[in-house]
Amino acid sequence: MESTSSIKDLYKYLEFNSDKKITLIPTMGNLHKGHLKLIEKAPANTIKIVSIYINKLQFNNSNDYDCYPKTINSDIAKCQVHNVDMVFMPDESFAKSLNEYKDIHLPKFMNCLCGETRDGHFIGVYKIIRNLFDMIKPNYACFGLKDFQQLLLVKFVASKYFPNLDIIEVKTIRNKEKIALSSRLNRLDKKSLVRAESIFFSLKSIRQKIIDGADFNTVKEEEIQKLESKSISVEYLEHRMNSSLDVAKGDISNSSLFIACYINNVRLIDNIQI
Ligand code: PAF
Repeated sequence: MESTSSIKDLYKYLEFNSDKKITLIPTMGNLHKGHLKLIEKAPANTIKIVSIYINKLQFNNSNDYDCYPKTINSDIAKCQVHNVDMVFMPDESFAKSLNEYKDIHLPKFMNCLCGETRDGHFIGVYKIIRNLFDMIKPNYACFGLKDFQQLLLVKFVASKYFPNLDIIEVKTIRNKEKIALSSRLNRLDKKSLVRAESIFFSLKSIRQKIIDGADFNTVKEEEIQKLESKSISVEYLEHRMNSSLDVAKGDISNSSLFIACYINNVRLIDNIQI
């Protein structure tokens, strides 16, 4: 396995391997089983490139950025075990190239959920994703369904600028308590982790009630109260259609429940398909 923080070296590596197909797995490091699943989903006979870059532009909260876990040595070791071919870990100077993208118009569906509550977040994601795709020109790129709205943005960018790029969607990996894996879980103590178990159970309970014919808004208020009684502060809890992110109505077979909440100042998101 090779690794570099130099853009020049990355280009040399790409040129040397120009006859091969590439799968890109973009990450911010602190790799957990969710990331490893993304790596596993890279099609066989493609070169696997994992990028590791904590993209300041997508953090709307500087404390969240400062606290983001950095575990580069163990990340590299995990990549090695998972047969990654190249780890690209640009340094801070990479930020300059991200700012070349101007006049960014995100589609309407980026204005809700995290787009509404995290000012500038998706512009930051847009810039890094487009830049990585521009540089590496992958044939495939893997993204997790946990970040559902991000996945829609990635698909939008791919369809607009990279018609030959296949986006591989990877299902959310949960621990045995059903908490969706996230690097931010490392910042929770044992007690808070137990509280985090309620998030998925809450989503499951709402799903069942909706399927049984209950009104979402009524059920939502009840569940928010339950979560808040466990000191989980709900930022949003919404029921939206999968492809447009419009508020769900009519045939809801293609819809999902989306939640963002805080436990001990740590922001977690999750979603569940109806
Ligand atoms: O999902 C993430 O870890 C990040 O948003 C991504 C896609 C690596 C862009 O920085």
